Amino acid sequence: MNEIMYKNAELFVGNTAVREIAQSHRTPFWVYSKAEILANIAVWSQEVNKKNLVCFALKANDNKNIVNLMGGEGLGADVVSAGELFLALKAGIAPDKIVFAGVGKQDFEIEYALRQKIRAFNVESEQELQVIQDIAERMNVPAPIHIRVNPDIDAKSHPYITTGMAKNKFGIETGRAIDLFKYAKSLSNISLKGIHVHIGSQLLDMSPFEDCSKALRELYFTLKNLGIEIDTIDLGGGLGVDYRQVIDWPPDETGESFQAPSVEDYTSAILKHLIDLPLQFVFEPGRSMIANTAILVVSVIYTKKTSEKKFIIVNGGMNDLIRPSLYQAYHRILPLKNPVRETRETVDVVGPICETTDFLAKDRLLPKVERGELLAIFSSGAYGYSLSSNYNGRGRLAEILVDGSKYKVIRRAETYEDFLKLYE
Ligand SMILES: Cc1ncc(COP(=O)(O)O)c(C=O)c1O
Repeated sequence: MNEIMYKNAELFVGNTAVREIAQSHRTPFWVYSKAEILANIAVWSQEVNKKNLVCFALKANDNKNIVNLMGGEGLGADVVSAGELFLALKAGIAPDKIVFAGVGKQDFEIEYALRQKIRAFNVESEQELQVIQDIAERMNVPAPIHIRVNPDIDAKSHPYITTGMAKNKFGIETGRAIDLFKYAKSLSNISLKGIHVHIGSQLLDMSPFEDCSKALRELYFTLKNLGIEIDTIDLGGGLGVDYRQVIDWPPDETGESFQAPSVEDYTSAILKHLIDLPLQFVFEPGRSMIANTAILVVSVIYTKKTSEKKFIIVNGGMNDLIRPSLYQAYHRILPLKNPVRETRETVDVVGPICETTDFLAKDRLLPKVERGELLAIFSSGAYGYSLSSNYNGRGRLAEILVDGSKYKVIRRAETYEDFLKLYE
């Protein structure tokens, strides 16, 4: 299914021409397809049978209405702060479907999560385990936990989004983790439920997941032999998406074709050595659930030539979509109208921010565009709005959800008055 597509050389989301939205809403703004989100939820729910649980990683997209849509379809949430926990609860996610990861959980966050009776903390260090025990003891409540292990597996992704290697700050090296499992078992208020792992994001090669599956099986039996029974393995997220072939037409400028792994490829790999074990599995997809369901719509403000480059200066910048600046990430960019043109040129698409790193694409072969044209930045539903900022005095953008031929604002744009509210 592809709800974001060109019809007669005009970009549509569902039955809505994106240019029509731009007639009543000032660019830049995000446009999501409800049908695409529901389709992704359905794929995940189908692959992960009823016994297991999908907890959407809110860090990828924390729009309350989108999270609410997911909750309505039975999904839980993976949160990494009290703020995300608050949002997940407000979006209607049941606390017993919420897992809480992150290397730096503060005491007040732990207390809050214990009060809300979340499903489990994904514990990332020895000290954190002790702090959770102490707080739970003081509150006289049980603290359900998974211990996050770091299996030292190279996810072969961008180094900034690789999390499961010994040099990364996440989790506890598998060897050292055994002692922590034993210790957790001995603590009065800790209820040891399982193992957690997350080796990285945007994985397109499934072999690291297979390696991880194997390591988890070994760990499961090591624990079992020590008399430590668990009932859950929380497998994290990490499935990559295809940022290039995101629409069927026109093909991307490289003309290369690449078959991105499916949710089924991912679950087969990660469950390869685990499927026969009497366990419940939790999955924490972020990107693969939401990235390809949205576009960022920007306007061309100016075009500009130097002796070396041509720049397309647009009104969306790194404060709106930081992925290109942060990870040299690729997003397709095309005009909303007539994406195939006789004249093409190699350009840098840059934003208005006063930083040289403010770019959306570098040395990209694009159809020649003019001042005033509207462009779509594709695959920007994940780590888009949630990573955006007010840098350079810019308000965060509106998010618009298209449902067939209807659309509505599901988070309004920030106004300058909103800036002032923080001083009240
Ligand atoms: C613990 C954890 N779970 C899930 C995710 C979501 O990963 P992805 O968006 O790659 O699916 C992340 C992302 O960093 C994470 O750190």
